[in-house]
Amino acid sequence: MVERSLISVRELAVEFRADTGTVRALDSVSLDLRPGRVLGVVGESGCGKSVTARAILRILDRNGTIAAGRILIDPDTPSETDLAQIDPESKQMRNVRGARVGLIFQEPMSALSMQYTIGNQLIEAIRAHNDPGKTVARQRAIQLLGDAGIPRPETRIDAYPFQLSGGLRQRVGIALALAGDPDILIADEPTTALDVTTQAQILTLLRRLQMDKNIALMLITHDMGVIAQMADDVAVMYLGRVVEYAPVHDVFHRPQHPYTRALLRSVPDLRATPRQRLSTIGGAVPQSNARPTGCPFHPRCPEAMPGRCDTAAPKPVPPGEAGASCFRLEDAA
Ligand SMILES: Nc1ncnc2c1ncn2[C@@H]1O[C@H](COP(=O)(O)OP(=O)(O)OP(=O)(O)O)[C@@H](O)[C@H]1O
Ligand SMILES: [Mg+2]
Repeated sequence: MVERSLISVRELAVEFRADTGTVRALDSVSLDLRPGRVLGVVGESGCGKSVTARAILRILDRNGTIAAGRILIDPDTPSETDLAQIDPESKQMRNVRGARVGLIFQEPMSALSMQYTIGNQLIEAIRAHNDPGKTVARQRAIQLLGDAGIPRPETRIDAYPFQLSGGLRQRVGIALALAGDPDILIADEPTTALDVTTQAQILTLLRRLQMDKNIALMLITHDMGVIAQMADDVAVMYLGRVVEYAPVHDVFHRPQHPYTRALLRSVPDLRATPRQRLSTIGGAVPQSNARPTGCPFHPRCPEAMPGRCDTAAPKPVPPGEAGASCFRLEDAA
């Protein structure tokens, strides 16, 4: 049985006002975050991964608006709420940020202040929701640092962020995201800034915490290797759209969308002969204000059908279902 969703994003569109006009950064994005499962969100730079995360948390830049769609938290329960409809500064939304959804950044320093000890910052985050008092909060902070794999947390708690290595700082970032005891975590490229060994350790930690606490994790990455290691389900994004949505096994063994296949070809093959050329995806991602007509991927698609793919856009993947947004698949069905 498929577990219920904690968050269902439905046909979400986000637009940014710019000097040159309005830019549509997301177009009909649907996805589900389920307890105990990892949704990997993958795609090249600029495809809308971070905008999706920021829209869910209602922390879009000031020139950004939700133009259409719903962000349902606790869908199909009496407490179902459409986060797209509530004031981003409201008490309810502030409670969602932290107590329901924890956010882990690419660069932990963007979540941490240099002026305060990590203990002060963690204790403040713990006390922001459901204040248990100073002494208990400090005990909880030490516990969280320990859970995040920080050695000797009872002394490290009084360190300043700049006294820690990048890997330890990201562990503090994870502890901070868990401070409000959320059941959903969004990690936006959490290991991109780290060296390979540290990256593997942080991913293992995230996976363990996510499973222990039955957390719904949305893991954003541009790395198919990270997807293979971490994800249960995968949303492949291209130019603001989810072009393929499927269980991780299917993405690797029977990818449906030409873009997914291209992404997989660009992963270095361990069995490749040395210095064999890596396959790369031809062409670059267009600017989102220069969105091609028709299927957004058609200018780079090796399987594009002239007169078809350049004139109309294929249907989005139906919300809540697996599939790919491509005319070749619509035709086959
Ligand atoms: N404040 C803004 N104003 C205008 N356009 C924006 C703004 N923020 C994001 N965008 C646009 O939205 C699109 C998606 O950006 P987003 O940051 O979500 O990409 P991404 O998939 O996270 O890329 P990366 O892998 O580089 O982090 C981009 O084309 C970007 O230029
Ligand atoms: Mg990003």
